[in-house]
Amino acid sequence: MALVIDDVSVIYPAANGRPPVEALSKIDLTIGPGDFVVALGASGCGKSTLLNLIAGFLAPSSGSLTLDGSPIDGPGADRSVVFQKHALLPWLNVLDNVAFGLKLQGISQQNRKAIAEKFIGLLGLSGFEQSPVYALSGGMQQRVGIARALTCEPKVLLMDEPLGALDALTREKAQELILKIWDDTRKSMFFITHSVEEALFMGTHLVVMSPRPGRIAHRFDLPFSRRYLAGETARALKASPDFIRIREEVLSIIFADEEAA
Ligand SMILES: Nc1ncnc2c1ncn2[C@@H]1O[C@H](COP(=O)(O)OP(=O)(O)OP(=O)(O)O)[C@@H](O)[C@H]1O
Ligand SMILES: [Mg+2]
Repeated sequence: MALVIDDVSVIYPAANGRPPVEALSKIDLTIGPGDFVVALGASGCGKSTLLNLIAGFLAPSSGSLTLDGSPIDGPGADRSVVFQKHALLPWLNVLDNVAFGLKLQGISQQNRKAIAEKFIGLLGLSGFEQSPVYALSGGMQQRVGIARALTCEPKVLLMDEPLGALDALTREKAQELILKIWDDTRKSMFFITHSVEEALFMGTHLVVMSPRPGRIAHRFDLPFSRRYLAGETARALKASPDFIRIREEVLSIIFADEEAA
């Protein structure tokens, strides 16, 4: 699995009297097999634009995106998206929400149920299959969204601030759950966040983006998610000198950007 973004720029055309926006400029990024790539950066630096390109919702103004050598020219089952707001269907229960994409693909009811139950179990939602999603907590709803995104067995899971709406404790638990799922399923991940701590804890690769035009300003390789999966605790990792050093480095990059803006 290799997703290759080569010299990609996006210019949103002028509209309603507003000038054109150079949302992304000359982005080069490769997401390899099992990579957990995190994009971090101030509001407006083009993170969602980059995710929408990978998802195939948007075409680049120049440059190319390929997945295993084939151009990305629209959405496909090899990439699925988890949004900040869960985007579930409130009139359906957990099972039917998770199985919804499979239904659209024409998979038989029996197979849908078996596949959906597997991912409901993986996300710790067993016992809630028949619950209406509006009756669940925000953290559980987000887990339903992740289970649904996994049912099509994507090569890459794309997540746009999936934990941004959760309270601090639920968010930390969800970070750990996503890492376990990443480890179990061996998917590649592209994950957007505003939280420096979350980015450092979860990613194997971090891109720090800068605005106007949106670009990748810094890149880091990170060890912490693999160390977590090897048995270190999240709290110990986040309090370790290595973690704090790189956190301060990333924060100073972000603050320098803010001051230049
Ligand atoms: N459809 C659009 N038309 C015109 N401009 C757009 C459009 N979508 C985004 N933009 C602009 O492009 C820039 C990048 O937007 P984008 O949503 O990718 O940023 P972001 O990093 O995801 O921000 P946030 O952290 O607030 O979600 C911003 O200046 C935004 O206003
Ligand atoms: Mg965004």
